[in-house]
Amino acid sequence: MTTPAIKPVGPAVNGKDRVLIFDTTMRDGEQSPGASMTLREKLELAELLQEMKVDVCEAGFAASSEGDFQCVAQIAELAKDMTICSLARSTLTDIDRAGEALRKAKNPRVHTFISTSPVHMKHKLKMGPNAVLEAIGASVTHSRKYASDVEWSAEDATRTEFDFLCKAIDVAIQSGATVINVPDTVGYSHPTEYGDLFRRLIENIPNSDKVIWSTHCHNDLGLAVANSLAGVINGARQIECAINGMGERAGNAALEECVMALKVRGDSMPFYTEVVTPKLSRASKMVSSITGFPVQYNKAIVGKNAFAHESGIHQDGMLKNRETYEIMQPEDVGVPSTSLIMGKLSGRNAFRDKLESLGYVLERGPLNDAFKRFKDLADKKKHVFDEDIIALVDDQLAAVQERVSIKRLKVVAGTDGPQSAELEIVVEGEVRSTHATGNGPVDAVFNAIRQLVPHTAVLELYQVNAVTEGTDAQATVSVRLSEQGLVATGKASDPDTLVASARAYVHALNKLEVRRAKATGAAA
Ligand code: KIV
Ligand code: ZN
Repeated sequence: MTTPAIKPVGPAVNGKDRVLIFDTTMRDGEQSPGASMTLREKLELAELLQEMKVDVCEAGFAASSEGDFQCVAQIAELAKDMTICSLARSTLTDIDRAGEALRKAKNPRVHTFISTSPVHMKHKLKMGPNAVLEAIGASVTHSRKYASDVEWSAEDATRTEFDFLCKAIDVAIQSGATVINVPDTVGYSHPTEYGDLFRRLIENIPNSDKVIWSTHCHNDLGLAVANSLAGVINGARQIECAINGMGERAGNAALEECVMALKVRGDSMPFYTEVVTPKLSRASKMVSSITGFPVQYNKAIVGKNAFAHESGIHQDGMLKNRETYEIMQPEDVGVPSTSLIMGKLSGRNAFRDKLESLGYVLERGPLNDAFKRFKDLADKKKHVFDEDIIALVDDQLAAVQERVSIKRLKVVAGTDGPQSAELEIVVEGEVRSTHATGNGPVDAVFNAIRQLVPHTAVLELYQVNAVTEGTDAQATVSVRLSEQGLVATGKASDPDTLVASARAYVHALNKLEVRRAKATGAAA
């Protein structure tokens, strides 16, 4: 079976076709319940995506909120060659908002969509097929006023009648769409079917070789990556995906898995991406740290165990030749072969070099602060690992400009209750202190914070992870708070789990405060 003619997205290299990577961590990924990110976090992630040479960054859905608008606008301003994209429904006002947010982008893309499946048209849109076709024509035509690069998506494409899908795509192409996305919105398709759909669409639709075809797969049946690859094998040249597979419900295709599958299996899938793969591990950690969503230990590519060999037979094989059990090297995805670093005698220059190798370039002031914190940690902990340094710096960067901060904490724990906490905090320069009891030490700490900063937010998640092995390991604590539809995740690391807990709670409170201000229009 031959693949019909398709538009290339770059030069072929060693007989391999280029595939574009479209990251939607900040848009579809942020739609994961509880995974919201602040503007500062999104800017930081956008910088990393750019360093990774991701081709397209979907920075948000500009019309959905002032916060999303600002994110798209500011990322559009910072981006160099990376294409910046905003999602927009098919309405003219949505598209105007997307266009406005993208005004400063060097390479802007408007991404507009409408549902095409019978169930969505009837129950969600309450529109007939002709009205949908009209909306497609009008929305794509209007989008072209803002960008020469316009992506059109057929939401729920995989449950759309084939003939109607062809008509809809034909209208989008005739109206000026440059990228056609065929989403498996509900994660229902499987690789043979999804690949076949691309082949048939490309064969049947006039001018199909004038546009770039794109996959967008949800993971409800665990098939998102396999489906995306099947799409590519059958003519798609863009994969929409998210770091750590973030996204609605079971998520999207995981960016790191799609990229590494194409890299490792280039022998039988003749495609390549431009993604700088040694940055994948850092991206995964950053997204997990921002959202508080842990990465499952056995997750492909970026899980803690992805390169660990436990059984004696495997270890023996590895010692004789790595290829016995390793299809890629940890270094290929940015996992250093040994992560042991310095102790308390390490100097500032070595520390700065280590930070740079981990992807952090800090100015003098923050560098000095980080170095001091590193020294404090090295006093408490014999071995300081890369993971400790990452936790320490992430923690420091997150803590900047906090309205509320922890000054002092003393906790009584153990079998002879009641467990209690003595807490001193600083709220906008004013020192407040209290003593509280609780059902366990963490409860006592959180009760003390509630007394000092009264609020109605509900604790949705409290999670503790050890950064490294051993009883002296730092604890990273995530706390998710929600209040009237606003959600914020705080994170902090410290060798003392209770200190980390207090700081994570306060971090979430500070983020919630920013969200509240944004929601009431008091701040951007
Ligand atoms: O899953 C989906 O259909 C989407 C579209 C808006 C592209 O996210
Ligand atoms: Zn989606």
